[in-house]
Amino acid sequence: MSLPVAVFASGSGSNLQAILDHHATLDAPPWRVQLVISDQEDARALRRAHRSGIRSRFLPVAGRSSGDVAAETLDILSSADIGFIALAGYLRLIPADVVEAFRERMVNIHPALLPAFGGKGMYGMRVHEAVLASGARLTGPTVHFVDEEYDRGPIVAQWPVSVRAGDDPHALAARVLRVEHLLYPRVVDHLSRALARGRRPTPFSPPGTAFLAKSQAGADVARSISAGFTGD
Ligand code: GAR
Repeated sequence: MSLPVAVFASGSGSNLQAILDHHATLDAPPWRVQLVISDQEDARALRRAHRSGIRSRFLPVAGRSSGDVAAETLDILSSADIGFIALAGYLRLIPADVVEAFRERMVNIHPALLPAFGGKGMYGMRVHEAVLASGARLTGPTVHFVDEEYDRGPIVAQWPVSVRAGDDPHALAARVLRVEHLLYPRVVDHLSRALARGRRPTPFSPPGTAFLAKSQAGADVARSISAGFTGD
C-alpha cells in the first residue's frame, strides 16, 4: 500500500509538476500524489493534475470562516485517506484544526532562507524583492513543517542559491525556482517514505555523492552543487 499524498497549490503548480515528474522516475515509491487541492478555480495546478489523471478539487476559501474551511478540508482529506500534505505555492493560511491533524505530516516550500523573508504577505516576487533590497548574498528555498503561522514551522531542508550582482527579482526568482524543483520532490519523497514505514520523519540532508552518481537527476543536482548552488 502506498501513502496517499495531497498537494495544495494556488497558482502555476510548477512544484507540483516537479513532484509528479520525480515520482515517475522512482522505482516503486511507497507514496503517490492522490489529490490536488486549490483555492483558485482556474489554477494551472488543477489542469496539471487533470492532465496526469490525478483527482483535483477546487476548495474555496475567500469569504468563509476558518472553521468552515477546516471542516471541509478535513472531510476531503479523510475521504481520500491522505497521510501527507505538500503545500506548493499555496497562499492561504492552513486552518488550525488541519494543522493539528497533520502536525509533522504537512510541509511548505518557501523561496527564501527562513526565518528571514517570510511571514504574512511574503510570497512570490515580494520575497525576491525583499532579498535584493536587503543586500543579502545568499538566498534559496526552505522546506518546513507547517504550523499555525505563515512560514514559521520547523525547518526540514534548505539549499542556498547565490544572489548575483545585477539580479532583478525575476532573474532571482527563476534561479531559486530551478533549485526548488530539485529540492522539493526529494524532500517529499524522503518524508513520505518515513511516514509510509511508520517512522517519524527526520530532516532531509542534501544528497551525497553516492546518490549523485546514480541517476540523471543526481547528475543535475551535482551540476547545481558544483555551480555553487546557483541553480544554473
Ligand atoms: C514558489 O516559488 C514557492 O516557493 C512560492 O510560490 C511559488 C509557487 O510556484 N511560495 C511562497 O512564496 C509561499 N510563501 P509554483 O506554483 O510554480 O510551484
